[in-house]
Amino acid sequence: MKVLLTRRLHDFAVKEIRKRYQVEIYTGKVPMPKDLLVSKIKDKDGLICYPYDKIDSDVINAGTKLKAISTFSVGYNHIDVKAALERGIIVSYTPEVLTRATADLAMALMLSLFRRVGEGNSLIHKKEWKTIFGPYEFLGTDLHGKTLGIFGMGRIGKAVAKRALGFEMKLLYHNRKRLSPREEKSLNARYVSLDELFRRSDVVSIHVPHTPKTHHIVNLKLLKNMKKTSFLVNTARGKIINEKDLVVALKKKTIAGAALDVFQNEPIDASNPLIGLKNVLMTPHIGSATVETRREMAEITVKNLMLSLARKKPIYQVKVESGHLGRF
Ligand code: DGY
Repeated sequence: MKVLLTRRLHDFAVKEIRKRYQVEIYTGKVPMPKDLLVSKIKDKDGLICYPYDKIDSDVINAGTKLKAISTFSVGYNHIDVKAALERGIIVSYTPEVLTRATADLAMALMLSLFRRVGEGNSLIHKKEWKTIFGPYEFLGTDLHGKTLGIFGMGRIGKAVAKRALGFEMKLLYHNRKRLSPREEKSLNARYVSLDELFRRSDVVSIHVPHTPKTHHIVNLKLLKNMKKTSFLVNTARGKIINEKDLVVALKKKTIAGAALDVFQNEPIDASNPLIGLKNVLMTPHIGSATVETRREMAEITVKNLMLSLARKKPIYQVKVESGHLGRF
């Protein structure tokens, strides 16, 4: 069988795939151009892709022999899952292994916002640190006692909740489905509406997938609900936030600040109005970017592919759930 990789994976992973299949790896500038993808997929049985590859119905339908799509990501909003399932193609992904790393990053961003780590760092690099330690110098705020609003209480949301409890934060959450009373009790988290979450939280952290229902759900109306002292953290998907609205809110100081690991378009271009705003802290989509996590993701991506091509159940198969199907 033939397999296409839209980008090189770890050596051990490539070696494993090469043992069984004829492998073609795209090594050009990412993402792989669509016309090339459409032409290369034609004779392939399996595809390994990444969250920035748009695996839409044109690609899927061009792959007349395609049996398996294995994405190196927990998100699968870049794949037209419906079109794939209609063709009997197994779609698999890599949840769980990246839960800790992503939750850690959400906490790191939250701490950095509250304690002004980014600002302090650039102040020193710009050689502008003029005043020494003092009662009113460079004050941030405590995480302790503040209210964290978790939007999306799935695996990553819960991992963030556990970490936040260690910082003695109060927890509110909003989710499609309410947790069981036992889980709510163990996380000490109170279920509230989305409006209330944004209104009452000192920091809102986003952990929902990007679906038609969550597309641009965080808009100016919700942001205006927030306290002027509150922060927004996004380590999920950029398109959950209406970025233009966020820029307005940040410029007008409707909210105190935001930390973003994901964006409407990635990488963001030089003209993006977020660049240069003092109250935004940005990282280049590094939620799962640890040595350990990316290795585990590679292992699962390969196992998922091999199991699917053997017509067995992959470790993590994308299930058909109306609210979760891919969208572009
Ligand atoms: C994912 O796995 O979907 C992440 O966004 C990649 O870091």
